[in-house]
Amino acid sequence: MDRETAWQIVCEHVQDPGLRRHMQAVEAAMRWYAGRLGEDPDTWGLAGLLHDFDWEIHPTSAQHPTEGAPILRQRGVDEVVVQAILSHNPEGSGIHPRTPLEFALMACDEITGLIIAAALVRGHKDLRQLSVKSIKRNWKDKHFTAAVDRGEVEAAVDAFSRECYDGKLGLWEHAGNVLTAMQGAAGDLGLDGRLAADGAG
Ligand SMILES: [Fe+2]
Ligand SMILES: [Fe+2]
Repeated sequence: MDRETAWQIVCEHVQDPGLRRHMQAVEAAMRWYAGRLGEDPDTWGLAGLLHDFDWEIHPTSAQHPTEGAPILRQRGVDEVVVQAILSHNPEGSGIHPRTPLEFALMACDEITGLIIAAALVRGHKDLRQLSVKSIKRNWKDKHFTAAVDRGEVEAAVDAFSRECYDGKLGLWEHAGNVLTAMQGAAGDLGLDGRLAADGAG
């Protein structure tokens, strides 16, 4: 499946611009890691881009993404990608991550939400002006994006680190990598300063 067809699937099922942006952010992070790890960026990117495509039609952990998987198969999405998507919610799907692709998806998912929020809360609204230091400050504030479970993110990064980095990838190095990947897609994500109050129009 090509990227354009996958994006059509996303646009058909997801209306919320924030959720679309989340999936584009995970796509960017996944492509970045695939490049570093000698894996296929297109396959990894598709897993990121499609992983929450059914959240609006299946908005519970029991349904998402289990009930979305047959739709993806029907649309011709590669089974490797479908399995990765199923494994990003083991609680609901019963399928746990086993491959580098699957561990990477778990590690990149939630942290993009924190990074997007960190960019949006600042006046510049530009990922390229954001630093790991600022993200760390937001991370430590328990009220900031309280929905992002810090313990869950740490566990996902640990598991990814063990699988692909001999346990040597730390949380903040990972955050820096994901930030770098997202900075490369700042325009597509709409987080290139265009939303800044003084820079609008
Ligand atoms: Fe999800
Ligand atoms: Fe997600």
